[in-house]
Amino acid sequence: MPNLDDFTLHNACESSLGDLARVFTAGYEGYPYPASTDAFQLARRVREESIALEVSFTLRRGDQAAGLVLVALRGDEAWCGGFGVVPAFRGQGLGSLLAREMVRRAASAGARRLRLEVLAGNDRARRTYEGAGLRTTREVLVLTWRMLVDHPPAKPQGRLESMSAEAALARSPRLFNVDACWQRSRASVLARTGTEGFELAVDGARAWAVCVNVPNRAARILRLHGETTGATTAMIHALQNRFVSLGIVNEPADSPVLPLLTEAGFTNSDHQYDMVIELGRPSPGVQPE
Ligand SMILES: CC(C)(COP(=O)(O)OP(=O)(O)OC[C@H]1O[C@@H](n2cnc3c(N)ncnc32)[C@H](O)[C@@H]1OP(=O)(O)O)[C@@H](O)C(=O)NCCC(=O)NCCS
Repeated sequence: MPNLDDFTLHNACESSLGDLARVFTAGYEGYPYPASTDAFQLARRVREESIALEVSFTLRRGDQAAGLVLVALRGDEAWCGGFGVVPAFRGQGLGSLLAREMVRRAASAGARRLRLEVLAGNDRARRTYEGAGLRTTREVLVLTWRMLVDHPPAKPQGRLESMSAEAALARSPRLFNVDACWQRSRASVLARTGTEGFELAVDGARAWAVCVNVPNRAARILRLHGETTGATTAMIHALQNRFVSLGIVNEPADSPVLPLLTEAGFTNSDHQYDMVIELGRPSPGVQPE
C-alpha cells in the first residue's frame, strides 16, 4: 500500500487538455481497445458528453500523474467517461481510492445517480467500482456488420431520405424513447458533429435512424426506431446498402431491435455491463410536485 500522504487530487480544470489527454492515454495503457487521445479529441468529448472538468480530477505524486477520472454531468445525472490508473501505480489501492472520490464528487456536485459502462472482461475495473458501491444493472452489447465478411445486405425497400439528426428527431421524438447509454442519449447525439439522420417509408410505415459517419463508408448507428418491425428491418437493410460496415455500441441486451440486427447479419463482438450507484434523494424543498 503506497503512502497516500504522498498523493494529491487535482480538479481537471487545473490542467491543460493536452496534459489530461496524456494522463488519459497513460491511464488506459493495456486496455483492450485503442484509447489513446489528444487535446483535440478530448475537447470534442467534453462537448459531446458534457464532461464536467470541475468535477473530473487527476491523482498525482509530485510531478508524476498517477491517474485520472472524467465525470460528466447533466442535470442530476452523472456518468463516468474515463477512469484509469497509470500502470506503474496499479495494484496498490489507488483505483479504489479514485472510485470512492468519483462517487463523492458526483454526489457533492448534486448528482442523484452515477453510472458507467465496463467491459465484461475487465474484472479489475468492475471490482474497483463494486468496492465504491456501484452495482451492475444490465448488459449492453457491441454489434458489427461488414459487407465483405458477414452476409450481404438484402435488397433495399422503400424510400430512404437523408436529413440532419435534428430533423430526424423532430419527425420522431420516439427515436429517443429507449433508455440509451450516455453517449447515445439525446443530448450526446445533438451535440455531436458528423451525424446524419434518415427516414424510410415502406408499406405505409416509417422508420428513422441517426448514424455517425466514420471514414471509408463506415458508420455507427446511434439511434434506430421504426413504427413497425418491417419498417425497422427495411431501415437496417437500407443502411447496409449505403455503408460497407456498420457498428452499434452499447445496445441493451433486451432491446427490441437486437433480434432484427442479428437477423440482418450483425454479430456480437463484445459486451459491457452498465453499473449504477444512487447518490441520495433530493431534499424536500426541491422535489418536483
Ligand atoms: C481498473 C484500474 C483503474 C484499477 O486500478 P488499480 O489501482 O490497479 O486498482 P486497485 O489496486 O485499487 O484494486 C482495485 C480492486 O481490483 C482488484 N483486482 C486487482 N487485480 C484484479 C484482477 N486481475 N481481477 C479482478 N480483480 C482484481 C483488487 O483486489 C481490488 O479489489 P479489492 O479492493 O476488493 O481487493 C486499472 O487497472 C486501470 O487503470 N486499468 C486500465 C484502464 C481501465 O480499464 N479503466 C476502466 C475503464 S471502465
